[in-house]
This record gives sequence, C-alpha cells and structure tokens, in this order.
Amino acid sequence: MASDPLKTSLGSIELTSPLIAASGTVGSVWEWATTADVRHFGAAVAKSVSAEPWAGRPVPRLAPISTGMLNGIGIQNAGIEQWVGLMTSRIPGIEVSVWGSAVGHTPTEYAKVVVLLAEAGVPVVELNLSCPNLDDGEMFSFDPVRAAAVVEECVVLAPVPVGAKLSPDTPDLVAVASACLEAGAGFLTLTNTASGFGMDRRTGRPLLSGGPGGYSGPGLKPIALRCVYQVAQALPGAPIIGCGGISEAADAVDFLMAGASAVALGTVLLESPNAGKRIAKDLVREMQRLGVSTVTELVGSVRPW
Ligand SMILES: Cc1cc2nc3c(=O)[nH]c(=O)nc-3n(C[C@H](O)[C@H](O)[C@H](O)COP(=O)(O)O)c2cc1C
Repeated sequence: MASDPLKTSLGSIELTSPLIAASGTVGSVWEWATTADVRHFGAAVAKSVSAEPWAGRPVPRLAPISTGMLNGIGIQNAGIEQWVGLMTSRIPGIEVSVWGSAVGHTPTEYAKVVVLLAEAGVPVVELNLSCPNLDDGEMFSFDPVRAAAVVEECVVLAPVPVGAKLSPDTPDLVAVASACLEAGAGFLTLTNTASGFGMDRRTGRPLLSGGPGGYSGPGLKPIALRCVYQVAQALPGAPIIGCGGISEAADAVDFLMAGASAVALGTVLLESPNAGKRIAKDLVREMQRLGVSTVTELVGSVRPW
C-alpha cells in the first residue's frame, strides 16, 4: 500500500482524499466542520449561493423515503454578499478545503457569484447547473448550448478552476458534458439529485409543498453510476466527481472504477455527519482486498465484457 493511498487528482486539482462533501448537505461547511472530523475529506462544497437572496420553497421541503430522501428546498440562500461577509474570515480556519457552489438564472448571475466566491478565498467553484427545484423549471444542464454559455462566462472571469454539476435527468448527458468541458470546465460532477415525487397517503397531499423534488440517497446510486460510466466511456480522461447514493466505501469504489476521480457524499452526511471517517477507513481496507495500492489505480478500471 502506498504511503498516501487516498491521494488523487481531478484534472489540475490535487486532492488528499477522493471524498468530497456534496453541496447542500454540509451547510456553509463551517457549521459541519465544527462538529465532524473533516480531515478525511479532500474538499467540502458549500451550499449553492446566488447573486441575490432566494427565498426557497415553503415547508414541507424535506421528506425521508424508504430508498433515500426527497428535497424541494429551492436553493434558499441569503445571496453572495452575505455569504462573503460571513465566510471570508472563516474559510482560513476550516480544516478542509472549502469549495464554492454557484447558482443563477443567467450566465452573468453565475459569473458574478463565481468571482465573489473566489475573492472570498475558495480555490474551486462548482456550477450547479442542475437543480430541479426552481419554480421556473429552468435547468441549464439540459441544453449543451446554454450549459456551455454559463461555463464560458464563468471561466473567462474566474481566477480559479470551475466545474459543472449536471443532472441525471439530462436527455443527452454526453453532449452536455462535452460542451461544458470544451467551454473550459475543469471537472464534471455527476450527478445532482434526480427529479422525484412522493405522496403522503395520510393527507392525500404530495410529500413536498412544491410537488416534485430532488431524489437523493441509495436509490439514486445506479442512475448516477450510469451517468459516470456513460460520460467516462464517451470522453476518456474527463475529470469526474461521482455523486449519488454513496453510503459505503464499496459504493465509492464502484464510482471510481466506473471513471470518477473523486466521489461526493451527500445524504449520508445528513444522517451521519461523521460518515467520512468510516468510509475513508473502509476504502483503504477495500483497496487492500482488491489488491490496489492507490485510488488512482482504481479510476476508470472497469473492464469490458
Ligand atoms: C437537502 C439537500 C440539499 C441539497 N442542496 C444542494 C445545493 O445547494 N447545490 C447542489 O449543487 N446540490 C445540492 N444537493 C444535491 C447533493 O449535493 C447531491 O448531488 C445529491 O444529493 C446526490 O447525492 P447523495 O445521493 O449522496 O445525496 C442537495 C441535496 C440534498 C439532499
């Protein structure tokens, strides 16, 4: 086993661990980092932030279901100005690399957020092109031209690497992934939540006030894994963060073998904020069992039939 078995790289970004905390599941990172052991993570992505404050959706907007959870938060956030005011002084004291996540209605809104996140000290920004919860139904992730326009405007202005987080519901995922990389995205995050719906049989109402919402947790894994595999096969060498339903080291191994260079943990951290410690330890054990000494040996090691 190598001295640093978990070390990996995501394009130009070096990571001490392939584990990343997924956006929206660890708040602004600061709250989480005060209670959880964050040293097992290569990075943690803060909740998505927009140029102006977004009110989000009314409650109920979180619903546990048997195979994971539904959320319809609508990216409630106080806007980038407040984020910068709160986080600029906190980031240097947090024991894990804090990445930003930008969301917006136009490429210009995204770019404004990206620039201010970088000024606040984040070394990497993820563009959330895939939230299915916005009332206007707009999803940049569905369209290669619109997705690339966001990436392009951000990359031109950003002094830090910028990645694109896509939706598993994207009709032609490879086309959108390819357009984002061509536009300068430093990595792809595959994936965000899938569109789902749940019923409350007692009241006869939808589980979420907004009706459909984002489906996450174990039930999302085969879908997200398919996204990673499909993009990695079509675009060999694409830097990918795999995300969706990872709750154990074996899940992480599956994503790495399918072509991800790093993996993000989401819903599992809501249940168990310290899950990274267990998963990192088990990942090393799982690698020993498989006879590999570094994470990078696993990346894309899936074999054809
Ligand atoms: C409560 C909740 C809030 C989320 N908020 C965001 C967000 O603000 N930005 C984002 O890009 N993804 C957000 N996500 C999606 C997660 O980052 C992740 O992509 C998704 O949950 C799939 O991973 P998982 O199955 O491990 O949870 C959120 C997910 C949950 C459950």
